[in-house]
Amino acid sequence: MSRIGFVGTGHIAAPMVRFLAARGHDIWVTERSAKVSAQLKSELGVTVADAQSVVDASDIVFLCLRPQVAADILTPLTFRADQQIVSVMAAVSTDQLAELCAPASDFVQTIPLGFLATGGCPLAALGNDRLLADLFEPENPVIKVADQAALNTHFAICAMVPGILDLMATGADWLADQTGNADGAEFYTTQLISGFLSAMEKGKAGQLAAERDALATDGTLSLQMTDALRSGKAHDALNAALAAIGKRLET
Ligand SMILES: NC(=O)c1ccc[n+]([C@@H]2O[C@H](COP(=O)([O-])OP(=O)(O)OC[C@H]3O[C@@H](n4cnc5c(N)ncnc54)[C@H](OP(=O)(O)O)[C@@H]3O)[C@@H](O)[C@H]2O)c1
Repeated sequence: MSRIGFVGTGHIAAPMVRFLAARGHDIWVTERSAKVSAQLKSELGVTVADAQSVVDASDIVFLCLRPQVAADILTPLTFRADQQIVSVMAAVSTDQLAELCAPASDFVQTIPLGFLATGGCPLAALGNDRLLADLFEPENPVIKVADQAALNTHFAICAMVPGILDLMATGADWLADQTGNADGAEFYTTQLISGFLSAMEKGKAGQLAAERDALATDGTLSLQMTDALRSGKAHDALNAALAAIGKRLET
């Protein structure tokens, strides 16, 4: 078991702390957000301390700060050469991390989502993917990426999740208007998509298109839907948003 520290104890740190504490690791977290750290302390018995004490105590340090404050918070901290660093911060590059965390040089950058706590979250990994796999597999599969640009494209795809949720919310609202049962409409819509995706074979290119084509055959309601979304330029909008987000992450 390892001593694992979190610098930044916010939305994305909390589910990782829960997952790693359940595996028996000894967890230290910084105090802010105070409400989150107090909850983790009472729930899991983690140690709450200032950032330098968290770094000093840890074999592995998770950096879970907002990118815009990362340099200000990390620059004054002293890291050790033997420490391993996991960064989940979008738009903080490997070069910047190397500068901010020197002399530590064993890094992995990844993109967790909150459902990692219950498993099934794919973790794109730039750097020491073995470290991430040791911590989070087999519940959460680790997918090695080649370089910073590739990691950034995975961040862009993560932004697609709320985009898809937004579309699903529109569909569920439409259903609720027809049925008068908002809870039932939301449950049906959510269960339909999650049940479909969990039953689907994964990991092979072309599977999404094959599933679509199996449903959207000539004369079907499914084909009417896929054609309408294409002619309404939904795909153009998605591609444009992905390109714009990818560009934003380059800067
Ligand atoms: N949320 C996600 O689903 C997600 C997914 C993948 C990656 N990420 C990345 O994770 C990072 C954090 O995102 P988040 O959503 O978890 O944001 P967040 O909830 O705002 O967490 C950031 C944390 O940093 C704390 N903080 C601010 N100043 C600090 C200081 N001087 N010392 C110690 N802690 C300090 C904040 O505390 P206060 O609340 O007191 O300001 C807050 O707890 C971002 O870089 C984001 O790109 C997030």
